[in-house]
Amino acid sequence: MALMVVGLGAGGHAKVLIEIMRENPSCKLVGLLDPRPEMRGRDVLGVPVLGGDNLLPELARAEVDHFFVGLGGVGDNQPRQRLYQMALSFGLQPLQIIHPQAIISPSADLANGVMILAGAVVNADAIVGVNTIINTRAIVEHDCVIGDHVHLATGAQLAGGVHIDALAHIGIGAVILQGVHIGAGAVVGAGAVVLHNVAPGQIVIGIPARAKN
Ligand SMILES: CC(C)(COP(=O)(O)OP(=O)(O)OC[C@H]1O[C@@H](n2cnc3c(N)ncnc32)[C@H](O)[C@@H]1OP(=O)(O)O)[C@@H](O)C(=O)NCCC(=O)NCCS
Repeated sequence: MALMVVGLGAGGHAKVLIEIMRENPSCKLVGLLDPRPEMRGRDVLGVPVLGGDNLLPELARAEVDHFFVGLGGVGDNQPRQRLYQMALSFGLQPLQIIHPQAIISPSADLANGVMILAGAVVNADAIVGVNTIINTRAIVEHDCVIGDHVHLATGAQLAGGVHIDALAHIGIGAVILQGVHIGAGAVVGAGAVVLHNVAPGQIVIGIPARAKN
């Protein structure tokens, strides 16, 4: 029997996930939830926006058993974490969404709710935490450890043994050198090259990356 899935968020990231899910006949996407009033009654690539997050308990009592967080993010990953925890609290199971053209090492360890988009590579012995996005063509080299609710944006590249703590955002096209540790909730700006550890909550930009004032 197909998994019955609801998507939380109806923006651009949700569109990308919907197209990946369509490749998977074992999932039936029931609809999307989005609190924005202007989204009510609309659809995203043919998937209806059912209403706000308040519908979640009702859906969970009915036919829905799985969810994905369709909300992206460009810095603050806490809204993604809140959605994930809310859906869990109603007894729904997080779906892993992995594009068929992503390359995943057999020794990589991927947690629940991980999203890995087209052309991304996750190499040997890497660990990826719950609800983390490895976006289009991002690279996670061997032995990296990525925490929960992280967003590794499009084309970002982690060299071997990088640690990224929970809720951090690694900007589009950023490069992080081997062994560097990025603290919880830190933001690495688009295109930055990070040579040294980044403290929790710190924002760094540029080449080489320095703290943003
Ligand atoms: C680092 C970042 C979070 C800062 O955002 P912000 O606080 O809103 O910053 P602002 O846009 O107000 O810019 C402030 C200054 O920093 C500079 N700046 C911002 N981002 C920069 C970057 N990535 N590299 C170099 N300089 C940057 C701006 O030019 C500006 O400089 P100025 O004051 O001399 O004009 C953001 O610019 C960024 O890079 N986000 C990542 C986006 C991303 O990954 N998107 C992909 C999603 S899939």
